[in-house]
Amino acid sequence: MFKKQFKKYKSRFPPPDLTDVVDMRRSHVGENCKLRPLRPADVTADWESLGLRPVHGWRLFELAGTGGLLLLEDPFTSEGQRLWAQRCLRDFTRKPDCRLNLDAHGDLLDGEDWWTSCCSDPERRRSLLKKLRWSTLGYHHNWDTKVYSDSERDEFPEDLASLSAVVARATGFPDFSAQGAIVNFYRMDSTLSGHTDHSEQDLEAPLLSFSFGQTAIFMVGGRTLEDEATAVFLRSGDVVVMSRQSRRSYHAVPRVLREDRDPPPWGSLDADWKLFGDYLEDSRINVNVRQVLRPGRRSLASPPARK
Ligand code: OGA
Ligand code: MN
Repeated sequence: MFKKQFKKYKSRFPPPDLTDVVDMRRSHVGENCKLRPLRPADVTADWESLGLRPVHGWRLFELAGTGGLLLLEDPFTSEGQRLWAQRCLRDFTRKPDCRLNLDAHGDLLDGEDWWTSCCSDPERRRSLLKKLRWSTLGYHHNWDTKVYSDSERDEFPEDLASLSAVVARATGFPDFSAQGAIVNFYRMDSTLSGHTDHSEQDLEAPLLSFSFGQTAIFMVGGRTLEDEATAVFLRSGDVVVMSRQSRRSYHAVPRVLREDRDPPPWGSLDADWKLFGDYLEDSRINVNVRQVLRPGRRSLASPPARK
């Protein structure tokens, strides 16, 4: 079921029928998405400096039939979208606190910084820009073993932890603590096939997923690949919170789509911003944030906190 649906949305010729893809911006949305209350009073952090709009203006939905998949419609200002795109491209790819898919292949020269080279050297840009697929932060996701380790951990970016805490608190998860992240860089032909994320010690804490740049079709199914999936558009700024049952559900990105919007949600382009804006024109960035540890623990090895 899941794989067949994935194939349908992935296909380019013929282009798939997208009428079943849930669009939280459409007015008839109530059939598939139920509006859910937010908890603005629980947000105490400085949301403005995190690039967010005031919480009372956000719209939160639960996707019907998913058992807890929450969709938060773009809560960012356009400056906020630029801020996070810049953090992802320039900072979350900079050594020493991240790991990149490029590390294993020797694509970067000794001490070479991906974004600096992409900006300063058109030749390097041509070869390097599209090769970046992911960066990991905090507890580094191990793509082979899928096991986290205390020795494979770097400092988690403080502002990304604060952003995650604000979104988690506002959507009903006051104890969420961001400890690991995968930043996925999608080009227009990239896909992410069906999987579940189950390596974390704490599978009760939700997964938080932030999207920037071009639009994705995101699929969420159930506990097995036999379950039927629902597809939904994720646009720049949108946030997915995979909570409760949906925390363990199969999900995938069969397609990245270009939707022409003028100006784009990340705003107009001034000179400083030009290269970031150019990147977003043919890419999607997904920041996938996880709580790895059980509540009260400071490392994988440490004993539970005393009550
Ligand atoms: C992941 C993931 C979804 C997305 O990184 O595990 O599911 O929207 N990403 O890119
Ligand atoms: Mn995932």
